[in-house]
Amino acid sequence: DDPRIHAIKSKIRVVPNFPKPGIMFQDVTTLLLDPKAFKDTMDLFVERYKNKNISVVAGIEARGFIFGPPIALAIGAKFVPLRKPRKLPGEVISEEYTLEYGRDCLEMHIGAVEPNERALVVDDLIATGGTLCAAISLLERAGAEVVECACLIELPDLKGRERLKGKPLYVLVESH
Ligand code: PRP
Ligand code: MG
Repeated sequence: DDPRIHAIKSKIRVVPNFPKPGIMFQDVTTLLLDPKAFKDTMDLFVERYKNKNISVVAGIEARGFIFGPPIALAIGAKFVPLRKPRKLPGEVISEEYTLEYGRDCLEMHIGAVEPNERALVVDDLIATGGTLCAAISLLERAGAEVVECACLIELPDLKGRERLKGKPLYVLVESH
């Protein structure tokens, strides 16, 4: 293991019973407060993706908007936001997904991604994998190839990685 990863993990605050009882919330805002750990986080992703011919980094609202753009800038890719419903002003495609209670939806601007682009999907965390699965579907509907999904944190007990339509998932830390 890269020694930087231990420091990164130590900066992620785990908040029990937030936002509701029984949830161990993985708080990345404490990582952002440490410039060295934040930089190391971005460097680990950039080292992995810089020579992979990725043309688009798609970041998932909200915390994929923190980690996606620095990666996109560093590897010379464009950044495309995947947003919650009714936030994007242009014409969109939408994908619904299931949450623990109810459903949610991600939207992407039509024309933001062109056919045959090579995409990296970025978010802070994978739990059930429903969110990343919807993101993959949006990119594939636009004709892009999803090269990989990248998150800081995986909750491996929920087996979200099995829902990613066979796409590879790269994570820095596991949390139980
Ligand atoms: C959290 C997290 C991921 C998603 C993972 O976001 O930031 O995006 O859940 O869950 P899943 O793998 O079970 O789909 P949330 O939906 O709470 O919204 P937010 O990022 O806008 O706060
Ligand atoms: Mg989220």
